[in-house]
Amino acid sequence: MQAIVLVGGEGTRLRPLTFGTPKPMVPIVGVPFLARTIERLHEAGIDEVIFAAGYMPQAIVDYFGDGSAFKMKITYVIEAEPLGTAGALKNVEQYIHGPFFVLNGDVLTSLDLRAMMDFHRKAGGLGVLHLIRVEDPSAFGCVVHDATGRISAFVEKPPKGSEPTDEVNAGTYLLEPSVFSMIPAGRNVSIERETFPAILASDQRLYAYTTNDYWIDLGRPEHYLSAHRDILSGAMPLTLSSDHDRSQPGEVYVEAGAHIDPTTQLGANVVIGRGCSIGARVKISNSVLWDDVVIGDDVEIESAIIASRARIGAHATIGAGTVIGHDVVIEPGTHIAPDSRIGGTAAAAR
Ligand code: GDD
Ligand code: MG
Repeated sequence: MQAIVLVGGEGTRLRPLTFGTPKPMVPIVGVPFLARTIERLHEAGIDEVIFAAGYMPQAIVDYFGDGSAFKMKITYVIEAEPLGTAGALKNVEQYIHGPFFVLNGDVLTSLDLRAMMDFHRKAGGLGVLHLIRVEDPSAFGCVVHDATGRISAFVEKPPKGSEPTDEVNAGTYLLEPSVFSMIPAGRNVSIERETFPAILASDQRLYAYTTNDYWIDLGRPEHYLSAHRDILSGAMPLTLSSDHDRSQPGEVYVEAGAHIDPTTQLGANVVIGRGCSIGARVKISNSVLWDDVVIGDDVEIESAIIASRARIGAHATIGAGTVIGHDVVIEPGTHIAPDSRIGGTAAAAR
């Protein structure tokens, strides 16, 4: 079976995590998130992935190539202009030759794709949408269905207070190729605002597949940190590399080759990437450091994301909610205010 992974659009919320580097190669406990996605697809028996990308995805191409190292055939299709979540699918129609998965490229979930295939086989119809229940449905696509799962309404991001349900689109679909006939070519089309409503209006069947799986849209920095907390605590099942130096379940994960002064206090919920160097009397809690980050003595870091090769000078403090981009240098003694975005393209990152 094939899968289309959506990694484009203007609104992609992974952007705040990726100043200065191609955005999709955001690591989740040391492994690029998209690599974990490809691995999950492979385990579900999917042998071909089409990346529908909104810009030249050089980092993705460099990492995956033709996909053979991942036992996956990988095709890249670039949009000159963002085509929207359905336009991006229409744009790759020529590559699709059977039922196919569509994955929003920013979702981390424990969803069992094979179980979803079984559900679709039994239910029939034009396709099936994975749903989850959330506390604030207004931030998502609300999906109304009957007891058989048949969907009657899809309402993207309804105003707060007017949500018809707490079950929302979790960003994984399994669709039949006949869906393509419902998407006009050559312009921006939203699957949420246009295509799903049009399918329902034409009385064709879409089904809801609601599960209690772990699920999070990684886009916002605080969600990215939550995801790491949940992985370290085991709430999100994920295989971690076995070659790390030290792992205290639920607390701290340190990749191999990191140098950490014994007087440093890590935790709870801290991930330290490969090749990091951390000085004396440093305190780090609820934070993720990517690779080759250098931290001077007496630094305090709370609830921050620090991208690869950043250097934090001695006695600096990093306020909660801050994201520090690749190669950024923070001078010794600097106090970074909470929720700061520091990086070469910080303006674009907001
Ligand atoms: N190729 C391409 N082209 N991809 C796009 C485009 C586009 O023009 N626009 C968006 N995407 C990709 C994004 O990269 C992301 O992976 C996915 O489509 C969803 O876009 P977001 O911008 O992240 O949307 P959202 O999170 O606000 O809402 C969507 O996801 C929710 C679940 O996280 C919707 O599908 C909601 O209905 C859903 O509940
Ligand atoms: Mg999203």
